[in-house]
Amino acid sequence: MIASEYHCLIVIFCMKFKLNDNRFYRCYLGMLPYVKPYALRATLAVTLCVPIGALDAVIAMSLKPYTDRIMIEKSAQDIWYIPIAILLFAITQGVLIYLATYLNAWVGEKMTRDLKFKLYGKLISSDATFFDTTHSGEIIFNFNDQVDMASSQLLTKVKLLVSRIFSSVALIGVLIYNSWKLSIIALVVMSCAFVPMAKIRKKIHWTLKKVVEGSAVLVTEYNESYSGNKTISAYNLYKHQRSKFWNVLCQVTKGRIKLSQKTAWLSPIMHVIIAVGIGLSIAYGSYLIVSEQITSGNFVSFLTALIMLYNPVKNFGNNVKDFQLSLFAIEQVLEKLKLEPSIKDRKNAIILREFTSEIQFENVDFSYDNGKKVLQSLNLTIKKGETLALVGNSGGGKSTIANLLPRFYEVCRGAIKVNGIDIRDYSLESLRSNIAIVFQDNFLFTGTIKDNIIVGNQNASDEEVKNAVEMAYLDDLVNLPDGLDTQIGERGALISGGQKQRIAIARAFLKNAPILILDEATSALDNKSESIVQKAIENLMKDKTVLVIAHRLSTVRHADKIVVIESGQLVEIGNHDELMLIPQGRYKALYDTQFAKKP
Ligand SMILES: Nc1ncnc2c1ncn2[C@@H]1O[C@H](COP(=O)(O)OP(=O)(O)OP(=O)(O)O)[C@@H](O)[C@H]1O
Ligand SMILES: [Mg+2]
Repeated sequence: MIASEYHCLIVIFCMKFKLNDNRFYRCYLGMLPYVKPYALRATLAVTLCVPIGALDAVIAMSLKPYTDRIMIEKSAQDIWYIPIAILLFAITQGVLIYLATYLNAWVGEKMTRDLKFKLYGKLISSDATFFDTTHSGEIIFNFNDQVDMASSQLLTKVKLLVSRIFSSVALIGVLIYNSWKLSIIALVVMSCAFVPMAKIRKKIHWTLKKVVEGSAVLVTEYNESYSGNKTISAYNLYKHQRSKFWNVLCQVTKGRIKLSQKTAWLSPIMHVIIAVGIGLSIAYGSYLIVSEQITSGNFVSFLTALIMLYNPVKNFGNNVKDFQLSLFAIEQVLEKLKLEPSIKDRKNAIILREFTSEIQFENVDFSYDNGKKVLQSLNLTIKKGETLALVGNSGGGKSTIANLLPRFYEVCRGAIKVNGIDIRDYSLESLRSNIAIVFQDNFLFTGTIKDNIIVGNQNASDEEVKNAVEMAYLDDLVNLPDGLDTQIGERGALISGGQKQRIAIARAFLKNAPILILDEATSALDNKSESIVQKAIENLMKDKTVLVIAHRLSTVRHADKIVVIESGQLVEIGNHDELMLIPQGRYKALYDTQFAKKP
């Protein structure tokens, strides 16, 4: 832990300047656990600031004998050492500053690394609702950029604070040593300079928040321009995108200018207050010299110490914006560190070792965050080895049903059971390891084809990968010059839609989970690609319990059970032949519409 005296100093500082209900103190305390592993170096960096600060007083102090001897008595006796001492002290101070800065950077970088790693852990274990409701820009900005700001600034500020405190204590010592009467005047004036400082922080808080939020939106804009570049080109959205970007940019710029406008007046006011202090000191000091209460040396030494003491106060106006920005960043980071996924393992969660009997949806109600009911009293049973198909109108809730089984979202009422046990009682990892999913739009990572296939099983042997590749009909990709080591670009930008789909199928093969979810796995493909992917899927479905969602009814007609979902409710259930026999049935109507269209 950082030495308790610094801890006390920070507390005193916060209480003295009433820093937003000890906001600085709260930030400092919140970050303390992340400094702890590097306590020794952090303490050393801060400790070095004590002599760095205190050495400021040496120059001021040495001016008294120098002035009295040389300028007044015109004698150089016994003062030859002063210039050498000043030089030595300056060199010592320089070395200490270097060491403190290096140690500070070292600790800051390590803290940044640890914080980013911890936050990344929080981020990837966040549930789907978090990602549904958080923009990518917010994530990049708050989980990356703000951490840089928070940890690099934290020690810098503490270091600055400690050196300022010790410098001030030493300089005040020099003032009092030279003349306690003059010191009272100087210190009273300096206290007045802190009044506008306390006012400013309230004024800038909202502007600061807007600037930070705007910066996150800018990152989202960059992201969308990257991911949506084809849509932007296809719809000639350059002008529109530029103007959207310009608006956000202007908002951020306006906020930044406003921040400067709200803080820049501090410096001139401080200059004036401090000029008053210096003026009063000169006036009263002259009287004290004339009345022989102090020597000229006292006065010169006093004035030098006073100017050195006032200097950081004068510049405070320039630093207040950065200071507030760093506090804000620390607050954001501390807030993100508190993130807890709402979907997590229960205490004593059990392991789903083997899927043996059936999946049941019992009276399931579900709404997304917006509160709109998406599923209502849904009852479904899928027996081991069965294929159950979900069909129905768009927006009816089919994908939602599929998303509830691996617990991407939690049911609002009722329960989903696997082997007769509520899925919330299983550990998330064991539940998900029993389910393989192929989506319509599968995410591919930057890397090679092989990297993307072994996502299904990191420990798969070459033989297993080869088998998955064969079963997924990936031979066209294998025959490329680099074979499975072909780079596929970010999000698979360098390969076709059907190829992406088959890589996802190969992944699912490799995972070899007993439960398979296929959500519109072929709907984006043309007939030729579809027939290959369809063959791959048929291979994949062998000996599995399958929940398949498809608009194309040709894909689902051989399913053991077909369920028609409309507006979140089950409206028909049966196999193809049974459903086709229902007069004016929903399935029959869908089927007739699709096949009537066929030439
Ligand atoms: N992440 C989400 N947050 C909020 N609402 C959502 C979310 N995902 C889907 N919805 C809404 O839930 C309802 C059901 O959506 P779902 O994706 O389950 O439909 P679907 O039957 O799969 O449709 P489609 O056949 O078009 O894929 C829709 O009204 C949709 O707008
Ligand atoms: Mg869907």
